[in-house]
Amino acid sequence: MCGVAGYVGPKKAGPILLNILKRLEYRGYDSAGVAVIDNGKIFAIKSKGTTADLEKKYLKRENFGGCIGIGHTRWATHGKPTIKNAHPHISGHIAVVHNGIVENYQTLKNKLIENGFKFKSDNDSEVLAHLINYYYNGDLADAVSSAIGRVVGSYALIALSVNAGMLVCATKDAPLVIGNGVDGNYVASDIYSIAQYTNKIMRMVDNTIAIIEDEKSTIIDPLGRPVILDYENVDLDLKDDGFFNYPHFMLKEIHEQPKSFQDTLSSVISTMEKDITLDIGLSETEIRSLESAYVVASGTSYHAGLMTRYLFPQTAGIMVNVETASEFRYIEPRPNSLFIAVTQSGETADVLASLKKARDLGLRTLAITNVKGSTVTELADKTIYTRCGPEFAVAATKTFTAQIAVLLILAIKLGLVNGVITSKDAKIMVSEAEQTPRYIQYLLEKEADIQKVAEQCAESECCFFIGREYLYPAAREGALKMEEIAYITSIGYPAGELKHGPLALVTDKSHVVALATYGRTIRSNIKEVQARGGDIIAFVSEGDTEVRQIATKVIEIPKTKPIISAVLCSVAVQLLAYYTAKEKGLQIDKPRNLAKSVTVK
Ligand code: M6R
Repeated sequence: MCGVAGYVGPKKAGPILLNILKRLEYRGYDSAGVAVIDNGKIFAIKSKGTTADLEKKYLKRENFGGCIGIGHTRWATHGKPTIKNAHPHISGHIAVVHNGIVENYQTLKNKLIENGFKFKSDNDSEVLAHLINYYYNGDLADAVSSAIGRVVGSYALIALSVNAGMLVCATKDAPLVIGNGVDGNYVASDIYSIAQYTNKIMRMVDNTIAIIEDEKSTIIDPLGRPVILDYENVDLDLKDDGFFNYPHFMLKEIHEQPKSFQDTLSSVISTMEKDITLDIGLSETEIRSLESAYVVASGTSYHAGLMTRYLFPQTAGIMVNVETASEFRYIEPRPNSLFIAVTQSGETADVLASLKKARDLGLRTLAITNVKGSTVTELADKTIYTRCGPEFAVAATKTFTAQIAVLLILAIKLGLVNGVITSKDAKIMVSEAEQTPRYIQYLLEKEADIQKVAEQCAESECCFFIGREYLYPAAREGALKMEEIAYITSIGYPAGELKHGPLALVTDKSHVVALATYGRTIRSNIKEVQARGGDIIAFVSEGDTEVRQIATKVIEIPKTKPIISAVLCSVAVQLLAYYTAKEKGLQIDKPRNLAKSVTVK
């Protein structure tokens, strides 16, 4: 799971590749590398860590030129995140970058070793460089074609040779796009990374090979027959990628939520009439005939999806199954169902695989994503966008709350068509949803109080986040945030379940974060924890008098409808995790071992 980049044209390749790689870092930042051809030789620079580390190294050795090159940013799967395992991999006159997994690499490696090739890394991708070299007979495209004929697995690879003034790319089950610019041709794992150079984009399709030269790009199939793929003009908003006055992207993105929630909402409702304008690509008759819905997602997006467990039966009048994408492959969905993929990036491999499965089974498919032109938008029958602008921090924040906004409006729409709610009910619900940005803003003003509480959490050995109903997914989301950026073992549990096991872990070194903004039942769960010595941080509704008496620390949240309360609690736990990580002096935006988008299954 990595980002790959290539450039061929009249300009110096190194700085262009670095710029593209910076925008691909969401796919991994364990190591990075570039290779360019200059004066008939391959010059490669690799570094452990982010592209910024690579850039420092590059700037010290800027003496090499070269107008053709490839680059890579890595999320380690095979082999540790070391320089030795960083791409590009080089075999004689060939250099290769690869995103994907070579599943039969050990067999190929053994054969190549028998043929005299020497391996320098523990990485599966190195076999590709040697294999292409092995098959090279004066024609790079031929060699790539023969090499991929031997590969079992997935790949988006870019190869160059000292002997050929071109890049040769191949793809299967991993995305690759080609950009045609005034100053040369580009190739990369996504559109966004090359949109800074051109908006004329062609998406490669599986089992094709691209020959990219200074003036043109040619697509062929593995037998060398031409394949016609069209360029499209994409229009992406690339302006918003600075920290402005925030120390981290995560904090900036948390603070953007009043706007991102509002923008998303405004894209699916008419603010004047309070009507729903959301189009899901199904007629009313088709909606009424749906048997059930499957909401499939990973990580934070899965937690947004979990809200539908309560929302859909009550409001939409439809049964729903919420599944983690990596498990969907083991599930037989009911035939006449709507499949809803929720994915910030639109590139999560497990989500894409689930969507393909649903499509193959004949289900109607809907995608909710934040990224225009992402792979999920190509695969789904219909896409609904969250309007958050780019989210750079690995920890998802503003996209989570915007996904809930879309799911809420979707539920209202389905409920209206299914006759579960009246149009008067719908208008009231829409008006309530419209108040959310204002409440989020109000909550953000309590940031200093949450920061104080976070100072205590930083000492914690283990955090339990508990909630009921809509507050349960919010609790899970809090735990995920705390784990991924503050590195504190955390569990998000239904409040009533603590006593069935996890209570055994509660000690005076643990904190329990109780999302207790509505419903009384959680009070007894809090008491159970208190009796075992755990410190209790409670988020309660304004005016609460009950929980306040038993919790160690209390933060008040505006009193709202349950699902909106869950949105507000989610923002609160985002801040809690952020300030805990900050207190611990952690890197926050790029937590260890993770990547923004997980493009392997
Ligand atoms: O792009 P996606 O929404 O499909 O990503 C899914 C997860 O990888 C993602 O939500 C991950 O859990 C976040 N880093 C959590 O903050």
